[in-house]
Amino acid sequence: MKEDLVLPAPRESAAGGPGEPLLVAEGLTKHFPVKGGFPIRRTVGHVQAVDGIDLTVHSGESFGLVGESGCGKSTTGRLITRLLEPTGGKILYKGQDITHAKRKGLAPIRSEIQMIFQDPYSSLNPRQTVGKIISGPMEINGIDPAGGREKRVRELLEIVGLNPEHYNRFPHEFSGGQRQRIGVARALALEPKLIVADEPVSALDVSIQAQVVNLLQKVQKELGIAFLFIAHDLAVVRHFSQRVAVMYLGKVIEVGDRDSIYTRPRHPYTHALLSAVPEVTLTDEEGGTRERIRLAGDVPSPINPPSGCRFRTRCWKAQDKCASEVPPLVRIDGNRDGHLTACHFPEEPTIEARGQDVVMDPALAALEKPDKD
Ligand SMILES: Nc1ncnc2c1ncn2[C@@H]1O[C@H](COP(=O)(O)OP(=O)(O)O)[C@@H](O)[C@H]1O
Ligand code: SF4
Ligand SMILES: [Mg+2]
Repeated sequence: MKEDLVLPAPRESAAGGPGEPLLVAEGLTKHFPVKGGFPIRRTVGHVQAVDGIDLTVHSGESFGLVGESGCGKSTTGRLITRLLEPTGGKILYKGQDITHAKRKGLAPIRSEIQMIFQDPYSSLNPRQTVGKIISGPMEINGIDPAGGREKRVRELLEIVGLNPEHYNRFPHEFSGGQRQRIGVARALALEPKLIVADEPVSALDVSIQAQVVNLLQKVQKELGIAFLFIAHDLAVVRHFSQRVAVMYLGKVIEVGDRDSIYTRPRHPYTHALLSAVPEVTLTDEEGGTRERIRLAGDVPSPINPPSGCRFRTRCWKAQDKCASEVPPLVRIDGNRDGHLTACHFPEEPTIEARGQDVVMDPALAALEKPDKD
């Protein structure tokens, strides 16, 4: 696998310099209707998949979006790339409101925002050659790079660490990791400004994951492309994302720069997620080992989420106020600039703060300590 290829120089940031807001989501909401009833099917409720989230991705930065399965990460990615129509809120791309833009209004955005999907098997057409797959976006958008599309595809194959001679091969001739590289090459074909990568390594063998993450990191840094990197745990985004947002049941519950999230988290749920990341567990010299927090119970249904704080049914710190008042996502006392937390009774800003009151899932506890008969 070629890892040390020379990449083209980063392009000038289209948003007017690195660090400018590229994509802004304000109060972004997606409620899916739930149909029921007989003989006439009516809307009987809504899945509150994404419920009023605010996010800003700056040009050239890698922004991590983390949370358990079902919390609304993919829906957020699909709203931002406008594959889904939002129920509410706003999406601004380079300051332009694209919330409800139609075909024509979306044309420039379609090439500048690309997606990389979780499953490298189903996301590539098995009947097309690699050359055809990677040049597809150029064809659709009528783009003819200097030297022709084939030359560009061969360059892209080289950039992602594949052999340019494999231009005429089919997806089934490649391993999972190589297929995900093909997906990356396809996403790069139109020189995007933002890539939404939805769990791009979750389907790969652990040994391959690091290689693909390294490739994405290289692409992000050397080509200056902004990333919204979606992952279900904090381990994968740790080395990749400069800023991280944690989602729970359709809401962003904590957001901040990497250091704030990994070493000074305030939200109990962030603590729980971090306790599952072995790298973050402290040694005795650093203040003691942390036990793994196992959250009690299941994630509640997004059709009928808990009142007030949505995490309260699994939170060891919940009090009456948590049921009656939605905690706003704000900079709370002790947080650094840009670090926002949605909690009425936050943890101290240290990772040692957790340790004792470990909430054991009764089912897991039973499995670990089987009854002696
Ligand atoms: N098209 C859809 N119709 C109805 N419900 C959906 C649809 N897509 C996702 N959902 C629901 O929305 C919630 C969030 O899903 P998703 O965004 O895929 O979460 P994640 O990517 O974090 O696992 C889930 O409860 C899921 O079942
Ligand atoms: S607001 Fe209350 S229930 Fe929610 S995380 Fe904070 S302490 Fe727990
Ligand atoms: Mg998903």
